[in-house]
Amino acid sequence: MQRHLITSAIPYINGIKHLGNLVGSQLPADLYARFQRARGNEVLFLCATDEHGTPAELAAAKAGKPVAEYCAEMHAVQADLARGFRLSFDHFGRSSSPQNHALTQHFAGRLAEADLIREVSERQVYSHADGRFLPDRYIEGTCPNCGYDRARGDQCENCTKQLDPTDLIDPRSAISGSTDLEVRETKHLYLRQSALKDDLDAWIDTKTDWPVLTTSIAKKWLHDGDGLQDRGITRDLDWGIPVRRGDADWPGMEGKVFYVWFDAPIEYIACAGEWADAQGGADWERWWRTDKGADDVRYTQFMGKDNVPFHTLSFPATILGSGEPWKMVDHLKSFNYLNYDGGQFSTSQGRGVFMDQALELLPADYWRWWLLSNCPETSDSEFTWTLFQQGVNKDLADVLGNFVSRVTKFCRSKFGETVPSGGEFGAAETALIAELDTRIAAYTKHMDNMDVRKSAQELRAIWVAGNEYLQTAAPWSTIKENEAQAAMQIRVGLNLIALYATLSAPFLPDTAETLRETLNISETSWPENASDALQSLDAGHAFAVPDNLFDKITDEARAAWEVQFAGSR
Ligand code: 2FM
Ligand code: ZN
Repeated sequence: MQRHLITSAIPYINGIKHLGNLVGSQLPADLYARFQRARGNEVLFLCATDEHGTPAELAAAKAGKPVAEYCAEMHAVQADLARGFRLSFDHFGRSSSPQNHALTQHFAGRLAEADLIREVSERQVYSHADGRFLPDRYIEGTCPNCGYDRARGDQCENCTKQLDPTDLIDPRSAISGSTDLEVRETKHLYLRQSALKDDLDAWIDTKTDWPVLTTSIAKKWLHDGDGLQDRGITRDLDWGIPVRRGDADWPGMEGKVFYVWFDAPIEYIACAGEWADAQGGADWERWWRTDKGADDVRYTQFMGKDNVPFHTLSFPATILGSGEPWKMVDHLKSFNYLNYDGGQFSTSQGRGVFMDQALELLPADYWRWWLLSNCPETSDSEFTWTLFQQGVNKDLADVLGNFVSRVTKFCRSKFGETVPSGGEFGAAETALIAELDTRIAAYTKHMDNMDVRKSAQELRAIWVAGNEYLQTAAPWSTIKENEAQAAMQIRVGLNLIALYATLSAPFLPDTAETLRETLNISETSWPENASDALQSLDAGHAFAVPDNLFDKITDEARAAWEVQFAGSR
């Protein structure tokens, strides 16, 4: 049995996430977690809300609520939506947790002891119109690296360069648009990432199985230009983790908090502590400390491409710099962007479909299937209502749903609602078993490699193989000549449904559950071989005919949704 630690990038607290966010980390992470559990492996799957920083403060102000109250409410909303999409986190934590406060301060203390933190007197942008410092994202301007004119103060989303607000050309307040900005002196802490450059470089060189997208982004920021820059890890904000050296005060840092990107990845670790506390004191260190059992853990992170520099450089710098035996990431799976109907999904502009809206329209499995089978894996991909309609209607309704319906209804009408007996496997069944063996092996391999689109294609091909078998075997004709043979064919069909429940569960957890209820079976184990799988339901086993599994999306509904979602939220 393997042990898998799996984390998804933790979503910002301010507002409900859109489907592009969902498919860029949480949903594929869930696919992988469900697959590894189904294989019988031990999994700890963690996610949390990313609650600090200016976005949280400003969203709370906009909602007219104290920021702590706003975050608590939004955490509950996001947790509820995560349940709605069947994201099977072992724990959905909060970066504002006491555990993360303590651990973040602990890391800062260790880094200071290792002489990896320096104090810098910094010039920071103050906005007269807004009456506040404007850190990070609340300054916009032109990227000095690529010229993109809406780069944010922390990062250019066009070229992914990490920025400091004062790097921007022609800066303006993202809150008020004001250019009445003044640069003031203030003292901040910097993490000396540059001192860790060789260690990071050597560590990344060991990651030969990482996707090119991941390593190329990391190598770019290690080697391009002046190489890896030291990063400011404190901010002049009220809301956040107070700057302390472990348990001790940090003279000169009173009233400052750690930068959100310093404490957010530490929450991956703290979240395990939150999970353990919620379990009444489980052992979380066996997942995270290599001196306490985590050396045989395989740790996989999921994230969008804009998060890659933080996960390949900044967070590893924190861990390496601490000098403590924390588990580091083994595999980092990054995604491109999902676009929306010829443009971008945008939270600020309310463009696209958001998680709450999606669940109001259709059950989670429809979205899970389309998003995963069309995820932006090797390049950006696009959501359009037409593509969505096609994917749902063809794959789910015509292929999987139709197969289940035809098999169960035919059996009920000719043999009743029990698995019929009689007949022997012949050439068609042998051929089906051979095809399934090949395809299940390929599917399992793709899932293990987190090749999401290839996995979806293979799963669809497995559903198609069942349809083709049924079409060729044609039990509705066979029964006229040879009832026993027709019984065997339909027994194969019913066993295929059981197999589909198991194989489809990571993509379609609710549908798999319905299929298991229909077939009157409990948890199934991942198939060892198709021959056994096709004989798992014995003759005489009772089943029920399910309601239609998937409704087709009509042209009228599609057209209405196109209009409904054309504007902004
Ligand atoms: O991009 C985002 O949505 C960030 N909130 C991801 C943080 S991931 C991590 F490092 F915690
Ligand atoms: Zn840029």
